[in-house]
This record gives sequence, structure tokens and C-alpha cells, in this order.
Amino acid sequence: MIELENVVRSFKIVKRKSGFRGTLKNLFAPETEIKRAVNNLSFTIPDGQMVGFIGPNGAGKSTTVKMLSGVLYPDSGSLRVNGFVPHRDRKKYVRHIGVVFGQRSQLWQDLPITDSFEMLKSIYKIPDEIYRTNIELFNEILSLHTFENKQVRQLSLGQRMRADIAAAFLHNPDIIFLDEPTIGLDVVVKENVRAFIKSINEQRGCTVIFTTHDMQDIEKVCKRILIIDEGALLYDGTTEKLRDVFGEERVLTVSLNEKTDTLTACGIKSSVDAENPLDHIFRVPKQIKLPEMITEISAKAEIADLRIKEPEIEAIIRRIYEKGAADA
Ligand SMILES: Nc1ncnc2c1ncn2[C@@H]1O[C@H](COP(=O)(O)OP(=O)(O)O)[C@@H](O)[C@H]1O
Ligand SMILES: [Mg+2]
Repeated sequence: MIELENVVRSFKIVKRKSGFRGTLKNLFAPETEIKRAVNNLSFTIPDGQMVGFIGPNGAGKSTTVKMLSGVLYPDSGSLRVNGFVPHRDRKKYVRHIGVVFGQRSQLWQDLPITDSFEMLKSIYKIPDEIYRTNIELFNEILSLHTFENKQVRQLSLGQRMRADIAAAFLHNPDIIFLDEPTIGLDVVVKENVRAFIKSINEQRGCTVIFTTHDMQDIEKVCKRILIIDEGALLYDGTTEKLRDVFGEERVLTVSLNEKTDTLTACGIKSSVDAENPLDHIFRVPKQIKLPEMITEISAKAEIADLRIKEPEIEAIIRRIYEKGAADA
């Protein structure tokens, strides 16, 4: 179980001044300010859950992941992961976790990945049997064999990320932290990475937290999401609930058999699609029931086809960032 209670972490940052005088001042008497990267963050994640940790750039995601993995300590508040205090118990703790930072490889740049894996095997004292099974399984999903003899520095970003992710899972950790594991990857590799994370989570029951600002990651992989902005929690819940509570309207498109002027149903007026004049588009607020609308429309015109588009998670989240969850 992962437990955070009122976690705060600040950084001292230098206020940069421009111009000649400013440059001198930066050098000799830099003015600093304190930036709260994580501001009173509290949440709990039970064993085996897969959680998407999302937020715009600079929201405090990486800082949180660094504290969870024990490389940064909090200024105040408490962090506990499976009974460990990450930054204090780091030595014992690392065996239980796997970490991937999308921006930086954890592998040895000059070694082929097979050698890196062998090194990890001995560092973590991974039994032969587990090592063999894992390499085989990871190969199957991530096709590592196609580049296993190349040095890490020669790999493409997508290959490097697949290798990094495999490396993080090699010692069967109970908890995995992935910081932007899909950043910069092409669509196919992204799909591979998502499938991998999902299947390991299901098969092994490990707890997974991953940060992303890719909405597809969230829709395809996570049931629960935590949204943070400016170091504070804005939303904690399922993607379905997010849609239910914050999704304002669905778009109903009705194709008719004959051209008609604007239609009105349940008080909502349609707009006629300029390109397909047989298509009427209704923006339906969430308090209106779709079956009632469709019944009303079909009493007025003959319906050939209809499509319903649910509100997009991406649009909902953008609105939450803009307004804050309380009044989104
Ligand atoms: N080592 C650091 N020194 C100074 N400021 C930092 C440091 N790490 C992060 N910050 C600042 O803390 C805030 C949160 O950063 P980060 O956790 O990296 O956000 P995210 O991963 O969500 O993009 C940002 O304003 C960032 O500039
Ligand atoms: Mg980050």
C-alpha cells in the first residue's frame, strides 16, 4: 500500500534577471525564491492497483515520483510504501520497486542490453528461473531480441524505452513507478508499452503508478486517475466518474432520410451539418436523457442512422486544469 499524507516539497530557485546589471546580479547576489513543487499532497493506493498520475508540465509529478522512489526526501508530511519510508530505507526498499524515468535511461550506455540485464540480475540476485521466465515474457511483448546486441547509446528512443521498462520489471518488483514512459514514442511502440504494463499488472498484481500527459494512456490503461496541478490534488477517481461528473455534453448526430430544417427535441435545437445536410447535430447536456430525445426526433422525422459521441476525457481534463475541480 502507498500512503502519502500532507507531503510538501519545495525547491529554491534563482530568479533570473536579464540585461547587463541583471547578469551581474545573478552572479554575485542571486535573488532566490522558494517554489512549492508538491503542496500538501495526500492519497492512498491499495496493492495491485494501476493509477495514472496526470497533470500539466511543472505540476509536480516527477517530484512526487522521485519522493516515492526515495531519491528525494519530502520537506514535511509522510510517505510510506509497503511499510517502508522510501528516502530513509532506500537500501532495502529498492529491491521492492522498479523505476523508469522516461527522460533518462537507467541502463549502462556502453553495454548491449543483454549485458545490462545480466548486471541487474547479479545486482538484484535474481534467481535463474525467474530471470529466464521474465526475459522470455518481456521479449514476447516488447520484441527486445530485435536489438538486444546493440549498445544502449545506439538504440532509438522507442527501443531504449522498451529496454528500460523491461529492466525495471526484471526483479519482479511489487511496485512500479513510471515517469512519462510513453513520452516521444511513436504510436505502435506506445501501444506495445501500454500492453506490457497492463499485462504485467494483471498477471503479477503489482502496483503501478505512472505519470503521463497522454490522454490515450489514461483512457486505455488506467481505471483510477489522480490529477494534480501546482503540486496539489485536483481529482481522484475513475475515468468513468470523471466523464459522469465533469463531462458537460454528448454530441448526438442523427442522419435523416430527407432534408429538413433545424429540428428541436427536448428543447435542444439541432444544427444542420454543412457538408452532410442530412445530418443533424444535437449538443445534449448531461441532464437530458438520450432515449427521450431520440423518441422525440423520430416522431418528427425519419431517422436513417445515429451516432453518439461521449465527451472526451482530454477536453474534460483541460477544463479542470483551467478552472480547478471545484467549479469545472
Ligand atoms: N531540482 C529542482 N530544482 C529546482 N526546481 C525544481 C527541481 N525539480 C523540479 N522543480 C520545479 O518544481 C516544479 C514541479 O516540477 P516536476 O515535478 O518536474 O513537474 P512535472 O513532472 O509534473 O512536469 C516545477 O516548477 C519545477 O521547475
Ligand atoms: Mg515530469
